[in-house]
Amino acid sequence: MAITIKTPEEIEKMRVAGKLASDVLMMIGEHVKKGVTTDELNTICHNYIVDVQDSIPAPLNYGHPPFPKSICTSVNHVICHGIPGDKKLKDGDIVNIDVTVIKDGFHGDTSKMFVVGKPSILAERLIRITQECLYKAIKIVKPGIKLGDIGHVIQHHAEGNNYSVVREYCGHGIGAVFHEDPQVVHYGRPNTGDELQAGMCLTIEPMINAGKRYSKVLPDQWTVVTKDRSLSAQWEHTLLVTDSGVEILTHRGEENIPQIISH
Ligand code: MF3
Ligand code: CO
Ligand code: CO
Repeated sequence: MAITIKTPEEIEKMRVAGKLASDVLMMIGEHVKKGVTTDELNTICHNYIVDVQDSIPAPLNYGHPPFPKSICTSVNHVICHGIPGDKKLKDGDIVNIDVTVIKDGFHGDTSKMFVVGKPSILAERLIRITQECLYKAIKIVKPGIKLGDIGHVIQHHAEGNNYSVVREYCGHGIGAVFHEDPQVVHYGRPNTGDELQAGMCLTIEPMINAGKRYSKVLPDQWTVVTKDRSLSAQWEHTLLVTDSGVEILTHRGEENIPQIISH
């Protein structure tokens, strides 16, 4: 599959889908607290996406075997693709909620870390450094840079802080298809790989471990955990490459990075 360049009409639909996905993360925050189950969070998000946003939760029935829920909830040592279930969140847990909505045929994909009660200093630092990895990568995005430049910025910041970068899962092109070309890996060497062009939409979604980088998939065939059971964090945005830089399609008002960056 080739990399798609979006038309102005498609870009407008990506803006709408991106905003809806970010709205779900804004909405769910107040519900992420001690005693709630991740399945309850799933139900709240599912109903909001379907009933309020008149949209489709992309994860539901996605892939093989079909993903059984509408969001991913990845707690503590779960790297990604955690399946919402009946375990209650407890004080000190960290949880990534990953939301993908389809509106008018286009996808918006974004995730955020939440903390339950008071997290450990280590957890707080891992979450912060991982968000910095995402932001540092976003800030270099413009036509002419290469995918390896993105990977390098993330790997350099993570490893410079004694963390490791998960290699088996990556960001991706996105549009009418959930996971399009190119693959956006979160490690690499400057000036290598495909060049970015205006009109491309892609996600950057670094998964950073406090311990070693190795992962394994649980028997449910979805849940990805750290092999050494160390904590893992992830943040994700859907981006549009513009003529002069980047637009964060899933930007939340609360964030300390501008939605539109022009170089
Ligand atoms: N939202 C994930 C991503 O960022 C993909 C989840 S696929 C699912 O690409 F089936 F697990 F939902
Ligand atoms: Co994604
Ligand atoms: Co996602």
